[in-house]
Amino acid sequence: MNLILLGPPGAGKGTQSKRLEHRYGLAQLSTGDMLRAAVAAGSEFGLKARQVMEAGELVSDDIIIGLIAERLKAPGKGFIFDGFPRTTAQAEALDHLLDTKGLSLDHVIELEVDEEALVTRITGRYTCAKCGQGYHDRFEKPKTDGVCDKCAGVEFKRRADDNERTVRSRLQSYHAQTAPIIPYYDARGSLKKVDGMANIDDVTRQIESILE
Ligand code: AP5
Repeated sequence: MNLILLGPPGAGKGTQSKRLEHRYGLAQLSTGDMLRAAVAAGSEFGLKARQVMEAGELVSDDIIIGLIAERLKAPGKGFIFDGFPRTTAQAEALDHLLDTKGLSLDHVIELEVDEEALVTRITGRYTCAKCGQGYHDRFEKPKTDGVCDKCAGVEFKRRADDNERTVRSRLQSYHAQTAPIIPYYDARGSLKKVDGMANIDDVTRQIESILE
């Protein structure tokens, strides 16, 4: 099974991908995570990507498509595309890549959200520095303050692009370049919408009912 989770920054794509990954044995392909790994590695490409990401703009299609093509070499039980595609060129390239591998896209799920809530969601988000478990200052706190539920780590980090100014710019990029791909999938009849403003468990249930 291959599916895309679509939605603006902070819509819950990463949160839901992690849950679906465990539930269905799928592999999450997050282009944002791939880019952050390149930034952390300190490569020349990583330095360039960092500037683009911190400006809230999009990294070039060729680079992104190359990253995805590399990951599709090992299909396993299927993929959850998180943060990809983000432009019409990426959507067309994904069709082509899947086609050449005899794979298909089973679901495109849009998380519909109220934009003002996104700034609160994103600026409150942080992760465990050791295992990457995600938390939120208000919505998803660790059971014991300052200690990761999953690995007992005590150090946490926040993304460099999770400040209000960059979030506003990311939202602009979303409207200008990513939202136009919604009609592309809608026209094929593969688009399903879920209420991304419901609580995290409810959103998971809505998605599961589409997948099952
Ligand atoms: P990327 O990492 O993809 O970021 P994004 O799309 O901006 O999405 P986020 O990760 O911020 O949000 P999310 O929807 O995953 O929300 P989350 O689940 O974390 O991209 C970063 C940058 O990389 C881009 O700006 C661009 O520069 C570049 N890039 C990446 N892909 C690219 C591509 N394909 N092409 C070109 N450039 C690319 O949730 C957010 C918070 O809200 C969490 O704290 C969570 O706990 C909380 N939350 C989630 N759901 C709920 C809920 N239902 N109720 C309450 N709180 C919730």
